[in-house]
Amino acid sequence: MKSHVWRPLFVAIGLVLLIIVVRSFLVPDDFGVWERGYMYGLHRKGNEAEWKKVTVKYRTKAYCKECHAEKVESIDRSPHGIIPCENCHGPAMNHPEDPPTLTIDHSRELCIRCHAKLFTPSSGRSKIRGIDPVTHNPGAECSLCHDPHHPNLEALKRHE
Ligand code: HEC
Ligand code: HEC
Ligand code: HEC
Ligand code: HEC
Repeated sequence: MKSHVWRPLFVAIGLVLLIIVVRSFLVPDDFGVWERGYMYGLHRKGNEAEWKKVTVKYRTKAYCKECHAEKVESIDRSPHGIIPCENCHGPAMNHPEDPPTLTIDHSRELCIRCHAKLFTPSSGRSKIRGIDPVTHNPGAECSLCHDPHHPNLEALKRHE
């Protein structure tokens, strides 16, 4: 047979060999070599242990309610009711034992990450009311005028 038949065949064989070599480096050792459920599934058995090692950091709002009930009730009546407390105050796993108190972040950045106006509509994020951080009262903390727990615009004066 002529080389114009062999050549593409060699190329094809070469590609298959290349894939086998690359695969042996990329696919973890514990993939597809275990009992039923792992042999043909897309899950590594070793991944179970990895997830068990992940330490939980967050407690959710229901936990805060035990001690900060007023805060929870107040925020639930405001447009910020859908934001978990720990989104702004950080993880509270063993609070109040350790840490005894949580972070209170007064920076403009805390608010800007959700409220900087996006000019290209994308996800639901662009539906959140937006301001231009450069022109909207620059230099002043947002919480000087807006109550973070009750940011209703019709009641701009802080009310607890
Ligand atoms: C078992 C009771 C308890 C629970 C539950 C609890 N806290 Fe606290 N929290 C405290 C105590 C006690 C303090 C320290 C005294 C204080 O500042 O009120 C504190 C302080 C804070 C502070 C700082 C207050 C300040 O004025 O400096 C924040 C913020 C806070 N907690 C947020 C939370 C959040 C968010 C949750 C839920 C994830 C939560 N806490 C759950 C008891 C609790
Ligand atoms: C959008 C961000 C945000 C969310 C969500 C939020 N906080 Fe706050 N929180 C703040 C900021 C900012 C301050 C500081 C306010 C100030 O000093 O004017 C604060 C202050 C506090 C304080 C101490 C000062 C005070 O006002 O008594 C406590 C306690 C607290 N938050 C608890 C909570 C709890 C509990 C939740 C959930 C129910 C929550 N926060 C949700 C941003 C937030
Ligand atoms: C000096 C007071 C003051 C400060 C500081 C301030 N604001 Fe405002 N903000 C206002 C007033 C007044 C309005 C309502 C009138 C308007 O839209 O300008 C408003 C409106 C808004 C709105 C609604 C915009 C709309 O189109 O409906 C958002 C969101 C907002 N502010 C977020 C922020 C954030 C985030 C910060 C900090 C980066 C901040 N503000 C700092 C006074 C303030
Ligand atoms: C995790 C995202 C997130 C963070 C952080 C956040 N906000 Fe909001 N904010 C929202 C959502 C969602 C709404 C409700 C939808 C809307 O009104 O655009 C809202 C609404 C508002 C409104 C309009 C209230 C009304 O009457 O419609 C103001 C003002 C506001 N936030 C100020 C702040 C300030 C000040 C901070 C920082 C302390 C802050 N936000 C932090 C998500 C966030």
